Amino acid sequence: MPATVAPAEGLAEFPIRVVGLAKSFDRLKVLKGISIDFPRGKTTVILGPSGCGKSVLLKHLVGLERPDRGEVWYERQRVDTLSEERLGPIRREFGFLFQNGALFDSMSVEENVGFPLRELESSTPTSAYEHAERVRRVLQMVGLEDTAHKMPSDLSGGQRKRIALARAIVLRPKVVLYDEPTTGLDPIRSDVINELIIKMKSALGATSIVVTHDLVSAFRVADHLVMMHEGEVMLEGAPDLFRDSTDPVVSRFLRGEASEDELRAIREASRHDGHRSQATRVSTKTPSSAPRQR
Ligand SMILES: Nc1ncnc2c1ncn2[C@@H]1O[C@H](COP(=O)(O)OP(=O)(O)OP(=O)(O)O)[C@@H](O)[C@H]1O
Ligand SMILES: [Mg+2]
Repeated sequence: MPATVAPAEGLAEFPIRVVGLAKSFDRLKVLKGISIDFPRGKTTVILGPSGCGKSVLLKHLVGLERPDRGEVWYERQRVDTLSEERLGPIRREFGFLFQNGALFDSMSVEENVGFPLRELESSTPTSAYEHAERVRRVLQMVGLEDTAHKMPSDLSGGQRKRIALARAIVLRPKVVLYDEPTTGLDPIRSDVINELIIKMKSALGATSIVVTHDLVSAFRVADHLVMMHEGEVMLEGAPDLFRDSTDPVVSRFLRGEASEDELRAIREASRHDGHRSQATRVSTKTPSSAPRQR
């Protein structure tokens, strides 16, 4: 298939498609041939346990990782085979809120948020006024206009996430990728981020992809949900499909419960601990120092 012709079906509806994506690191098979269509102008949430390949999947969408097999499409472009040079214009249409999306510590909030604009300066020059105005507008969108002159170290974790989000949208992206936007935040700060994700979708008309294991956030922002498990798509569809799922892996994940295998391994480990603690008790006569058993 020529590199500039997308799988024709449903192109208008799905600007981003991954087809049979497989990726291993050494012998670790992280993605095992997954296919997902991301609906235009909607928020797709990717759920799944730690280590199942969610961040690796996001990186493939903008060519930060290259697959072993499979294809990544953005509009009419085959992304996974593009050179770094040709990826540039595509990446400019994406805003990426990275999982550990650190701000530059030595730059003020204003400089951090304006950074992507300065990077673009040679190809699309902006006047100083326009530059300042765009920074001001995105800071206003995330509700932190008054922090422009502060340094990142003067902000809370939730505020830093919002500044990173302002930076991710300063180029008015068509797609916004959020990797764990609420991790490490308390429920109120998480809800501010959820509101912003919803607001960005309507303000920018952007197609959004949110990776998370925060279920409250997932059900708040999702139009479409994808659950990954061990490098495969387990279930994909509307949020109701998940609430009603009788699949044991899906419902266990939604209830935050470990699998039988995981529980057995933990019980085994505590039995060993138990034997050890009894031995401790006999030899030292200090039962209070023994590990507590369930
Ligand atoms: N560049 C890399 N080199 C080697 N291994 C990697 C690399 N990137 C990811 N991995 C491994 O691939 C697996 C999946 O990683 P990934 O970051 O996608 O997980 P995740 O689903 O995002 O997890 P979490 O919810 O904890 O963020 C992990 O075992 C990780 O260690
Ligand atoms: Mg991750």
